[in-house]
Amino acid sequence: MNDQPAIKEGYLAFYGDKAGNSGGQGGKTMCGIVGIVGHSRVTPLILTTLKRLEYRGYDSAGVATIEHGELARRRAEGKLINLERRLKEEPLDGTIGIGHTRWATHGVPNETNAHPHFSDGVAIVHNGIIENFAELRDELVRDGYAFSSQTDTEVVAHLVARELARGLKPVEAAHQALKRLEGAFALAIMFKGDEDLIVGARNGPPLAVGHGDGEMFLGSDAIALAPFTNSITYLEDGDWAVVRRDSVAIFDIDGNKVERKRQQSLSTSFMVDKGNRRHFMEKEIHEQPEVISHTLAHYVDFVSGVSKPLDLPFDFARIGRLAISACGTAYLAGLIGKYWFERYARLPVDIDVASEFRYREMPLSANDAAFFISQSGETADTLASLRYCRKAGMKIGAVVNVRESTMARESDVVLPTLAGPEIGVASTKAFTCQLSVLASLAVRAGVARGVISREQEKTLVRALSEAPRYANQVLKLEEQIERIARELSRYKDVLYLGRDTNFPLAMEGALKLKEISYIHAEGYAAGELKHGPIALIDENMPVIVIAPHDRIFEKTVSNMQEVAARGGKIILITDAKGAAQVSVKTMETIILPDVPEIISPIIYALPIQMLAYFAAVFMGTDVDQPRNLAKSVTVE
Ligand code: M6R
Repeated sequence: MNDQPAIKEGYLAFYGDKAGNSGGQGGKTMCGIVGIVGHSRVTPLILTTLKRLEYRGYDSAGVATIEHGELARRRAEGKLINLERRLKEEPLDGTIGIGHTRWATHGVPNETNAHPHFSDGVAIVHNGIIENFAELRDELVRDGYAFSSQTDTEVVAHLVARELARGLKPVEAAHQALKRLEGAFALAIMFKGDEDLIVGARNGPPLAVGHGDGEMFLGSDAIALAPFTNSITYLEDGDWAVVRRDSVAIFDIDGNKVERKRQQSLSTSFMVDKGNRRHFMEKEIHEQPEVISHTLAHYVDFVSGVSKPLDLPFDFARIGRLAISACGTAYLAGLIGKYWFERYARLPVDIDVASEFRYREMPLSANDAAFFISQSGETADTLASLRYCRKAGMKIGAVVNVRESTMARESDVVLPTLAGPEIGVASTKAFTCQLSVLASLAVRAGVARGVISREQEKTLVRALSEAPRYANQVLKLEEQIERIARELSRYKDVLYLGRDTNFPLAMEGALKLKEISYIHAEGYAAGELKHGPIALIDENMPVIVIAPHDRIFEKTVSNMQEVAARGGKIILITDAKGAAQVSVKTMETIILPDVPEIISPIIYALPIQMLAYFAAVFMGTDVDQPRNLAKSVTVE
């Protein structure tokens, strides 16, 4: 038997082939940034890199250089081709430059909001979200700085300029400004008067340094830099770099010099590579703060705190029910969505795995809507369920990651997840992006149905905007989770328990573990324990309990007591309050940040993914292509 998972049709449509030809997705996922300290005219090189980054966004593009000693820029709304035209009409000289391709988060996609942004001798490009931008903007306005765009990025340009005005040299000015920033960002900063300096910084979104011969590069990924160099250094979170023509120095946020490995990238032959990670799954787990933020920004407006109006073919206020159908991890995302739609919008949801949905002959109403959730947009059962509902005259929404997939084409509205290509067979970032879409839509539905007030909407949107930062914090628990996973990998069976939205999450934890580590695992509603599974409990069956300190925490603690009384070993995933109040002895406790209820499933998804990932690594399985599975299941 062939032990390689089959790669079925639909896969190449997104990921492109191994020769590097991109597929049909062309999805907007996130901004791309580039910086080049070169030795020849730099704009053609920047355009080359931006072309390779365009999959990250094409709302606008821009480039800035130092031309005859002055900062100069060209920007254009829309696709890169518009910028190319602009540069043909008005070329830019200069051997140093920065460039940007934008996927809009703060501010509409027009030329004024396009990067690079300028402030007194400073030019900047940015990918990510500056969370404290409103507070910084007020402070800068008080100091007399005028804002010409609606972006969060412009505060960074002014912050650096203010440090320069206070007498600091460029590198120190950038360092001081970076210390003020909260949120997720990758930045490239250029200074008038220094044609041999770009400062790069990373906190969350990726940033790579490319080493050339007498020229140096910065880019959002190695793919962008592949035409010029394969010699890459990946910045780590909190790093910032002083990039000059012949040298690169990397520092941590305290200004201490740090060493980062230089490595050969395979990006010329593969459009998508693992970066400095061992597996795609690991890389995709770590991409979550960034892709969650981009997905959320598609559905909610972080500035005004409202959910964005969507061009839906139905009115949430007028439908009586919502049907959701999907397979595997996407189904579990839908199940969490059910809790949200019913809680925040009082909208009843029927949800089924697609292989059941299509055959169980449920009564459907043409006045209702149906959502189909799928990373690939090609899963056979989900597609068949979609067609079944379409026949019944229902309005169809497709929550898909592949924008040009069959489901997207056959739906009335595409509700995209902006996760970017997911290569690992185990779905990770697609799942948390699906949750991000569903949570945002539930808020939107709640407002439409008069269940949520504008004030409550603001609070919920604010909570959603915090998800990327919390996700970043959870990724830092890697060492503890790896140690626990080593222990887990010694067992044959594992039980996951949770209540409320943590019940579907318990099933997702079990699915991940089964799928890639081949450890048998089950996910149960904690309250169901005594109706059967408790018979399995002994010292050979670790029980992972997902229990943030919420209104039903005490109920879950009772279930933990039942486990402990029977010699079961408990691994508790909770927050600081939960850890302080739990009265049961645990084998291990993973303490996550105290997060708002609506984002809890998004944040608690990360440790269960990491547990499965490390367990699989210890088991020595084929993490990215586990046996018998395919990324896209296009057969029934
Ligand atoms: O492409 P889809 O989201 O429709 O795929 C659905 C399932 O096949 C998928 O989520 C599967 O369960 C994952 N491999 C789980 O990690």
